[in-house]
Amino acid sequence: MTDQPAASQSAWSAATAEVQVAPPEVSAQRWPIHRTDVAPAFRASDLDFYYGDTQALQGVSLDIRQNEITALIGPSGCGKSTFLRCLNRMNDLIPGTRVDGQLHFHGEDLYASYVDAVDLRRRIGMVFQKPNPFPKSIRDNLTFGMKVNGIKPTDERVEAVLRKASLWDEVKDKLNRDAFALSGGQQQRLCIARAIAVEPEVILMDEPCSALDPISTLAIEDLMKDLVRQYTIVIVTHNMQQAARVSHRTAFFTVAGLEQGQRYGVLAEDGETEALFSAPKDPRTQDYITGRFG
Ligand SMILES: Nc1ncnc2c1ncn2[C@@H]1O[C@H](COP(=O)(O)OP(=O)(O)OP(=O)(O)O)[C@@H](O)[C@H]1O
Ligand SMILES: [Mg+2]
Repeated sequence: MTDQPAASQSAWSAATAEVQVAPPEVSAQRWPIHRTDVAPAFRASDLDFYYGDTQALQGVSLDIRQNEITALIGPSGCGKSTFLRCLNRMNDLIPGTRVDGQLHFHGEDLYASYVDAVDLRRRIGMVFQKPNPFPKSIRDNLTFGMKVNGIKPTDERVEAVLRKASLWDEVKDKLNRDAFALSGGQQQRLCIARAIAVEPEVILMDEPCSALDPISTLAIEDLMKDLVRQYTIVIVTHNMQQAARVSHRTAFFTVAGLEQGQRYGVLAEDGETEALFSAPKDPRTQDYITGRFG
């Protein structure tokens, strides 16, 4: 870091100051090492997205690597959630939306007519900002999706999933209790367990900690570092410290087109998280991470 410009150093320090964080090269000892020889899980090529006549994303080209945590950051309204929802075709559920360009998942066109979007959403699960357990028991929250997807809802599976979500010890004596009786942080881990219960390959998370206290936030971050051994994780976060703490790679989205009276999201820059925070290539990234914009 000694040969980084001072401003960049301070951006990285600011991004990691809140908690004593190991920079990514140290973290890599705990997580899978970056593999450049593995084909990406997702490849977006020149992706445009429209809500009716309004363009929300323009020309996004981004690879998302398998068994890594990719953070999507950027100012409000730049299309982070929209892009995330493209990855499991969740936007299909919004009438009048349209995608141009290409989005491949393990080399297959995600938007090909033969792709079964329901099956796709099982393979590519999602966790939302606000914990949203079903109004059912803790156990039923997990077994429901298993049954729908032809997975036998055994006690062993329920236990295994809750262990993976670091929740087992806290709930093992109250599996028949209502999920709403859990704390917010526990509910969010239950939602992660529910996503895992249907045996996905990818977990998409849209600001999963924004409704949680700092302790629950760190619990979810620890959980993500554990889960990434088995799953590919994409997280949208407004918290740059969080992106710096958990992600291997970061993609910075921003708003463009304002000069032409338009407003759409573009990908300004992506790269290894530490490099992006300590030596951003795009001045817009620099402005954002140093707090001058957004
Ligand atoms: N269902 C929708 N219908 C119409 N426009 C939408 C819809 N959802 C989002 N948009 C618009 O698309 C643009 C991108 O929104 P999006 O929610 O993806 O941004 P974001 O980066 O996730 O913002 P935030 O950080 O505030 O969550 C915004 O201009 C927003 O108003
Ligand atoms: Mg959003």
